[in-house]
Amino acid sequence: MSRLIVISNRVSAPTADQPGAQGGLAVALTAALREADGIWFGWSGETGETVAPKFETYDGVTSATIDLPEQDVEEYYDGYANRTLWPLFHYRLGLTEFERDFQGGYERVNRLFGEFIGPHILPDDLIWVHDYHMIPLGWVLRQRGLTNRLGFFLHIPWPPTRLLTALPDHRRLVEALFAYDVIGFQTQEWLETFHDYVVTQMGGSIHDDGSITVGGRTICAIACPIGIDAREFIAGASSPQAVATHRRMIESSIGRSLIVGVDRLDYSKGLEERFNGYQRYLETRPEARAVVYLLQIAPPSRASVQSYQDIRAQLDALSGRINGAFADIDWVPLRYVNHGYPRDVLAGVYRAARIGLVTPLRDGMNLVAKEYVAAQDPENPGVLILSRFAGAATQLDQALLVNPYSPDDIADAIERALAMSREERLARWKPMFANICNEDVNWWREQFTARLGGA
Ligand code: F6P
Repeated sequence: MSRLIVISNRVSAPTADQPGAQGGLAVALTAALREADGIWFGWSGETGETVAPKFETYDGVTSATIDLPEQDVEEYYDGYANRTLWPLFHYRLGLTEFERDFQGGYERVNRLFGEFIGPHILPDDLIWVHDYHMIPLGWVLRQRGLTNRLGFFLHIPWPPTRLLTALPDHRRLVEALFAYDVIGFQTQEWLETFHDYVVTQMGGSIHDDGSITVGGRTICAIACPIGIDAREFIAGASSPQAVATHRRMIESSIGRSLIVGVDRLDYSKGLEERFNGYQRYLETRPEARAVVYLLQIAPPSRASVQSYQDIRAQLDALSGRINGAFADIDWVPLRYVNHGYPRDVLAGVYRAARIGLVTPLRDGMNLVAKEYVAAQDPENPGVLILSRFAGAATQLDQALLVNPYSPDDIADAIERALAMSREERLARWKPMFANICNEDVNWWREQFTARLGGA
């Protein structure tokens, strides 16, 4: 059996310092790494001189991380990854910064990863690289003479060709993807936009079996939506911590319906638009005031990037305005919380919520939508309101799908969800729940690694 080598910017394998599993992706990849005696490589999250990877084996899983010098963090992570590729790939050309230094830092750090990882690869290893931070890594490894099977999975959307061509050296970035044997996208839509680029910009051809040929090199590109660890999340929803949280939420709701949103504090999540939609609901349905409240949990993210500081300031102001305008002496319409919670606590919050409000402006997948569905009471589930621009909407099409840019659409969906009969809620929830259980994170991992292994 080949070893599996996982490479991503962040490493979330368990360690002695952080023994708990860090989310569904970590759980799935950790299980695969343990089975295949593999290694998870990435950035330590620390700044410092890069000397050699720090190896740690904990609970049967080995991780290896490197520190990066401050300039590299600024140009590679804050810069090209989060000020160039992230906004561009989320259709936000106006927020995208094009700096040659960023591109230089990005390529330098990818070479650095290649240099440090290369010597640890055995000839039979399967290598699986994750996300937009590491697009050129496969190419770097090939330059070092590696002939292993190489896979890449993009967790975020693939942008339309006309947007991507605004990126200086866009072709260089896409050509690097052809160093991989298998590349995976979250949805058919992102796969098709990739096809469009390959055909119109590179003169490539797409074959009936899904393979793609460009200039004599043929690779396999697939749509393979990531799931959650459904079994673990469902079990977590009946854990003592979840049950206690559920009770706490019900008590603090005093008969009002809870609407919940949980997102990293990121402009792609559509939080401002969501607050506007909620405000529209409160303005236009005065009789419904004081029977609902919105709990928005939004832990800050990428705080050294200006656009993230801006969105945080805008949301601080907007949440204050909404509460100032609508609150009553015994009711606050919006509870806005800027820190994260453990998964079992979130499971209890989701279960207590009559509505899960998940309205990103653009999202590769969105696992909060799946977790909300997984946490529901099978006898009396809540309603998922989901952006049609989240990758998850292709699988969770029984949700109330909304245009996240439209405050009226969001307000109407809230009204409809609150009035929805138990029969309709059940009829919508059941197929979504079945999908989440069938196409879970292990299914996703098996789909991808089967292709990578050459099946
Ligand atoms: O899902 C996209 C992603 O960028 C992951 O690659 C990343 O781990 C996560 O969002 C959180 O972002 P960050 O690692 O920048 O905090």
